[in-house]
Amino acid sequence: MIITILIFILAYLLGSLVPGVWIGQLFYHVDIRKVGSGNIGTTNSFRVLGPKAGTLVLLLDLLKGTLAGMLPMIFDSHINAMLVGLAAIIGHTYPIWLKFKGGKAVATSAGVLLAYNPSFFLLIVLVFVLTLLISSMVSMSAMVTFTFATLSSLYYHDWILTIVAVSLTIFVFYRHRTNIVRIKNGTESTVPFGWYYQK
Ligand code: G3P
Repeated sequence: MIITILIFILAYLLGSLVPGVWIGQLFYHVDIRKVGSGNIGTTNSFRVLGPKAGTLVLLLDLLKGTLAGMLPMIFDSHINAMLVGLAAIIGHTYPIWLKFKGGKAVATSAGVLLAYNPSFFLLIVLVFVLTLLISSMVSMSAMVTFTFATLSSLYYHDWILTIVAVSLTIFVFYRHRTNIVRIKNGTESTVPFGWYYQK
């Protein structure tokens, strides 16, 4: 029981690490919470800090989800990795270091899925890239991909995967509510041939 609690706390703390904010402050002297969309994730890091920092933030946000998903294996526990990953996703969206104001759950969720089911991860990456090529909107691509992941999770007959996917999809739509308004108004930032700098 103590190990289980420890794993969930560790996963939350891992998810709470906020590379977007820390890289921005340390190397660029910019607080990405105050520029662009104000989000702390990959998209705003690309937008505000540039491709190098954006790529690094993407990898680190993914990695923390993957590491969290691997904690049950590391501790030789039978807890479901998807449930542990959920703690990391909550950490990312409500990080203790930022007074519980965090990101939109996209890259960290993908990282958890990488640990849980790598082939499913590759499929959703493909769907994300295709949607991004069509829509040029990261937010739209994220929402479409989560919806796709929920529907296609049924194929695996894994009810924990499906319940987590449904919950995350609802949550991701909720976290993207300002993006949804911008999409409706035609003012959402797009990524045609380079990252659009939103003032
Ligand atoms: O992962 C977040 C992305 O879907 C939207 O980010 O900064 O455009 O609100 P942003």
